[in-house]
Amino acid sequence: MKQKITKAVFPVAGLGTRFLPATKTTAKEMLPIVDKPLVQYAVEEAIAAGIDTMIFVTGRTKNAIMDHFDKAYELEKELEARNKTEILKTLRGIVPPHVSCVFIRQSEALGLGHAVHCAKPVIGDEPFAVILPDDLIEDGTRGCMAQMVELYNQKRTSILGVERVHPSETGSYGIVKIGEASGTFSPIELVVEKPKPEDAPSNLAIVGRYILTPAIFNKLETTGRGAGGEIQLTDGIAALMADEQVLAYEFEGTRYDCGSKLGFLIANVEYGLLHPELKDGFLDYLKERHFSA
Ligand code: UTP
Repeated sequence: MKQKITKAVFPVAGLGTRFLPATKTTAKEMLPIVDKPLVQYAVEEAIAAGIDTMIFVTGRTKNAIMDHFDKAYELEKELEARNKTEILKTLRGIVPPHVSCVFIRQSEALGLGHAVHCAKPVIGDEPFAVILPDDLIEDGTRGCMAQMVELYNQKRTSILGVERVHPSETGSYGIVKIGEASGTFSPIELVVEKPKPEDAPSNLAIVGRYILTPAIFNKLETTGRGAGGEIQLTDGIAALMADEQVLAYEFEGTRYDCGSKLGFLIANVEYGLLHPELKDGFLDYLKERHFSA
């Protein structure tokens, strides 16, 4: 088995029901945080982690994602004619020359576990990353996946990005019970998908960052439908734990749940306040708005 993490899977075939009607004909992952779609942040995080093959598992209404990572000849010609060199450079830099994009269609949204399994023919016998673009993570430096790849290079085993959530929210996440921690990572002893707060083994939630060994594919093949009638990645990981150690990693950085309207709004405010051209004007507006509210 090859050991280096060079491939990332972006499962982007979900229906995005929490964002309807905005997501009726367009992908949730194309919603912008300030001036970039969510999925572009995810790809940038993967590139920062040394990954060069981006595998998108898409569905109907998701064609805009494919177009976003393709060359836009007419637009580029037009920008060239208008001497808009800066923005042209930005557009051309979305996919650097050493990066390739692969698109796979998940014909039915049968769940995250099923979406990840769709990438099996492209992944082969290699460990790989999974990034859910609607979990946007800002760490101010190298990115969450780079942190995880660094840990993978030491441990050579599957790793899940985790974060403490409010105990009332366990029903929205896969929840792990961990053994004794060694710094920022711990062995996982138990994983449960979307437990009620009273049944949850902890408040440590799996968020949208995973490094998985290819052994997960066999497990997903026998994973039946779980919570919500979907083939859950968490259930596949629970089966994987019978054969190999899986680690929980408490990443550095702030996560914004952009699959929810509130998380999306908060992310736009925070990224607006970080944006070099916008931050001063935006801060002035917020201060004024706050005092006049
Ligand atoms: P979510 O649970 O956020 O589901 O999926 P969703 O359909 O995108 O959104 P809501 O809950 O209906 O509003 C988590 C991730 O798994 C992907 C989604 O695209 C998202 O990135 N996913 C989910 C798939 O790719 N396929 C599926 O069958 C289900």
